[in-house]
Amino acid sequence: MPINANALSGVEIVGIGAHTPDKVLTNKDLESMMDTSDEWIQQRTGIKQRYRADHENGETVLYLAKGALEKTLADAKMAPTDLDLVILATMSQEMTCPPTACRLVNMVGAGNAGAWDFSAACCGFVFAMNNAYGLMQTGNYNNVAVIGADTLTQSVEFNTHGRGAAILFGDAAAGVILRKTDDTSKGILGQAMHSDGARWDDLYIPKTVHDLNEADREGNTQLNVLHMNGAGVFRFAVGTFSKVIGDTLDAAGVSADEVDHYVCHQSNRRILDAAKERFGLADEKLHVNIDRFGNTVAASVPLVLNDLREAGRVHAGQRVMFVGFGGGLTWGTSLWQI
Ligand code: UT7
Repeated sequence: MPINANALSGVEIVGIGAHTPDKVLTNKDLESMMDTSDEWIQQRTGIKQRYRADHENGETVLYLAKGALEKTLADAKMAPTDLDLVILATMSQEMTCPPTACRLVNMVGAGNAGAWDFSAACCGFVFAMNNAYGLMQTGNYNNVAVIGADTLTQSVEFNTHGRGAAILFGDAAAGVILRKTDDTSKGILGQAMHSDGARWDDLYIPKTVHDLNEADREGNTQLNVLHMNGAGVFRFAVGTFSKVIGDTLDAAGVSADEVDHYVCHQSNRRILDAAKERFGLADEKLHVNIDRFGNTVAASVPLVLNDLREAGRVHAGQRVMFVGFGGGLTWGTSLWQI
């Protein structure tokens, strides 16, 4: 099978790192804030706890992203000034302008590295990996950081009205450093990126009353909080998740078995179990950590990779498929030979 037959350069993952807030919010904590139960949350989602950033005291998405980038650089044994680009996948940008990524570059001391925020909701990290790879093939960029960071606990209501979303989300940042290499066997074997904007209001955060969909104008007029059609997203995710994995494997000419790790967006344990069943995957091939982190949006996929790294399970020569789906709606993959 030709691997990376069209690649101009190889690209390898040389650093992986993550950073979480100090404060843990358990299901028991949530029981005291809203009408819910540890049992309901675990049964319906697989979540036991999540982290919540202390935004009021400066633990913002920038702070989390800085922690993750510094740890990722340390893992890569690189200096910040080695970086040519920093792509920050997030839907929790501090301000519309400047891009949070520019402040991140400044804070870590990465000189004048190119930097921008990349908004594709829960697909942010996966889409950004595909983008970074493309830029490294065609541009003069040797070392690129791709960080996913989100603080969605700021955008949910910790009360019974908002319980559908409040139990799901957690805050974190995680990412990778990509480096150009002469070994063209390393890099992307296959990828997919899709969207369905007709379903924009399945997951949205309205800023003004004009953003509200028709149904919410009549009922739920809350602004700056996540409005989510949980059951609709769940149905979409179960079907789409398996299909996009299958399509990527077919296009790359790789069988499900030949992939060592499926590093998937953690939005609900039942969605991940359905994909495992569909492809007959062993538990060790599709790592689940939603029990400890909840759904951390753009940080979710690299957080799984970081778990695998910490467990000593990431090795050169493996194949890793990154899989995302979420708001937009968006869904996609990035299949790597690492
Ligand atoms: O990254 C992508 C982002 N989002 C997702 O992937 C979300 C995907 N969706 C889900 O994970 C699930 O739809 C949820 C976990 C959000 C909800 O689970 P569900 O099994 O789809 O529940 P539901 O919304 O259909 O609600 C079932 C019942 C309702 O009660 P009634 O009407 O049957 O009496 C809800 O009011 O469960 C109730 N409920 C809760 N009960 C206790 C909803 N949320 C809660 C809660 N605690 N937190």
